[in-house]
Amino acid sequence: MAGSSELERRLRARLAERDAGGLTRRLQAPRGIDLSSNDYLCLSRHPSLKERMAEAVAREGCGSTGSRLLRGERECFTHLEQRFAAFKGAERALYFSSGYLANLAVLTVLAEDGDVIYSDERNHASLIDGMRLSRARRVIFPHTDAEGLERLLRQESGGGQRFVVTESLFSMDGDVAPLADYAALCRAHGAALIVDEAHAVGIYGDRGSGLIEADGIEALVSVNTAGKALGVSGAFAAGPAWAIESLIQQGRPFIFSTAAPPAVAAALEASLELIEREPWRRELLRDRAGFLRRKLGEAGVPVTAGVSQIIPVMLGENERALRVAAALQREGFDARAIRPPSVAPGTARLRLSVNTDLSEATLDRFVAVLADALQEAAVCSAASS
Ligand SMILES: Cc1ncc(COP(=O)(O)O)c(C=O)c1O
Repeated sequence: MAGSSELERRLRARLAERDAGGLTRRLQAPRGIDLSSNDYLCLSRHPSLKERMAEAVAREGCGSTGSRLLRGERECFTHLEQRFAAFKGAERALYFSSGYLANLAVLTVLAEDGDVIYSDERNHASLIDGMRLSRARRVIFPHTDAEGLERLLRQESGGGQRFVVTESLFSMDGDVAPLADYAALCRAHGAALIVDEAHAVGIYGDRGSGLIEADGIEALVSVNTAGKALGVSGAFAAGPAWAIESLIQQGRPFIFSTAAPPAVAAALEASLELIEREPWRRELLRDRAGFLRRKLGEAGVPVTAGVSQIIPVMLGENERALRVAAALQREGFDARAIRPPSVAPGTARLRLSVNTDLSEATLDRFVAVLADALQEAAVCSAASS
């Protein structure tokens, strides 16, 4: 095809460069015991969710057939949003077909040219992309560092609205943001707090609505993904009615995209019912996460402090992370290597995520296999350097 050979050369050179740096990503279907998904409460396969989804498909069909602002609207979405807003203790909520899109919408609608967004240096790519698209000025603060944030907030911002944007439980590090400190700083400096609760919703707080609830704070808007602990897909933005109405009127990812299949809303109703009715699920998750962290410590595997269900094992080099993940997979454990750009260069890791189906016996076996794989990898690294 005319004009394509230069393009082909450029892209092939980039692919080769990625490969040489151990950065080629492979599409790999799940195989083995799950230590990598975000299905923390194992709701994605729960009979109630499957039943409700199947019933809704029979009733409503598969596709929603249009944007929510056209023929894609269904009562089940509105009902679900009201339920989620009450769960979250927010005035109103809006459902998006993914967390990525929800973050783009929230940041591009709320922030604009002339505003300043203070962003944790390890925020998720969807938050970063949303900030970039908003055209607001971005000021990066050190990871989970309230004092660092305060120093930056004290500096002249040049007018415009200020925002502080953070994840509550960080997806790749498993540590938590000091939300109460941020909320106080936002009050003192007239900033609005936006919190991505992707990995916390369904798990933390007495009702399971997330770390905002657990820490007893108020954020302006939260984004709560529904494809992780909630076991389905999509995400809810929750906040005051005026902010949510603005997302409907101006959020391009909401307006210019086909609504999710209505059956997804039916499954999410079932998921929220289970989360509200069965707190033992999140207690069990906390238990199992604590157990794995303790066992890793006892086996001499260095893990960062914390209590969450996300446990990174830092390996540094990309190749090393890949080798350890492959060794675990050979032994029947589905653990995955996380490499740049998902994490900073030189900080490749295994991202272990705990779910409620993992028994203590399985975790014990996993720790033994991991300890062997790490030893092997250290020996190989030393031999090849
Ligand atoms: C912190 C964070 N925010 C947003 C997202 C995006 O959510 P989704 O997968 O629903 O697009 C993810 C998931 O990858 C995430 O980890």
